[in-house]
Amino acid sequence: MIVHRPFPAHRPRRMRHDAFSRRLMQEHTLSVNDLILPVFVLEGQGQKEAVASLPGVYRQSIDHLLETADRARSLGIPALALFPVTPAEAKSPAAEAAYDPDGLVQRTVRELKHTFPDLGIMTDVALDPYTSHGQDGLTDSNGYVLNDETVEVLVKQALSHAEAGADIVAPSDMMDGRIGAIRAALESKRHIHTRIMAYSAKYASSFYGPFRDAVGSAGNLGKADKTTYQMDPANSDEALHEVAMDLQEGADMVMVKPGMPYLDIIHRVKTELKVPTFAYHVSGEYAMLRAAADNGWLDWRKCLLETMMGFRRAGADGVLTYAAMDIAEYLAVGDIG
Ligand code: PBG
Repeated sequence: MIVHRPFPAHRPRRMRHDAFSRRLMQEHTLSVNDLILPVFVLEGQGQKEAVASLPGVYRQSIDHLLETADRARSLGIPALALFPVTPAEAKSPAAEAAYDPDGLVQRTVRELKHTFPDLGIMTDVALDPYTSHGQDGLTDSNGYVLNDETVEVLVKQALSHAEAGADIVAPSDMMDGRIGAIRAALESKRHIHTRIMAYSAKYASSFYGPFRDAVGSAGNLGKADKTTYQMDPANSDEALHEVAMDLQEGADMVMVKPGMPYLDIIHRVKTELKVPTFAYHVSGEYAMLRAAADNGWLDWRKCLLETMMGFRRAGADGVLTYAAMDIAEYLAVGDIG
């Protein structure tokens, strides 16, 4: 007997025929709740400088930053991540400026929390904006970044941020044991609500170039690299190990960085550890897309939204992106098709 098989056996395109059924079967969503906006702060008043390698991103003094924070807050962005531009004369081999209670970051946090108490403020815990050699920690006479000595300074830095009112401290330095040390110090000073977002799987990436231009650490670092503490892009199991250790030491959230070339890592972390997982769409990723869009080669809005959906699909709960404000605007007017 001849069995009649219709051709084709399945028509997945049926569900794609109309917008209503495409919407109904959508598996992942993107919301303003998923965004963190990184910002750069400068000393002074009335200062606003464009970053050449990050079109649309500025280094701003606190007064201008407050305007940006106001816009971000009214768009519904939950949190800002703060990065300081340290004047050359404030940098030193031992990065003392990092834990100055009246330092630029500490003053900025106080101003932001005073003006917008509901806006989450996250600070970066690492020494590279403050070291004259541009490394994330203290170095020995060979330029090797010392672990335990650096952790002692990171603890002071994190405490000074918490004391200024930071809601989240985010160690981005990749020293061993720093999450445990920071958590213990926060507890001992009764900063029991200070969240820790650990840059757990942070790779020794070349996509951080524009960020180093923005904070002015590129010149200090010169030809040196960060391969003795940041991870090798060849590794994946190691990322899970780093994440597991940071969680055990007291991290509330973990991060994978960079973002797009590491979607597999985000996916593994989220599926295996099931904890709040964040992606950093880093400066180089933003710069690539902006450059192509500014040349008319790619559609900025569409490629940006597709990128963000990629992070969500991979398992990211949220994304740090310099484009957060644009995305929030597209979401606000429903311009997400
Ligand atoms: C500093 C830090 C870096 C970034 C965030 N925190 C640079 C680095 O590790 O060299 C990169 C962010 C970006 O490229 O957008 N520890």
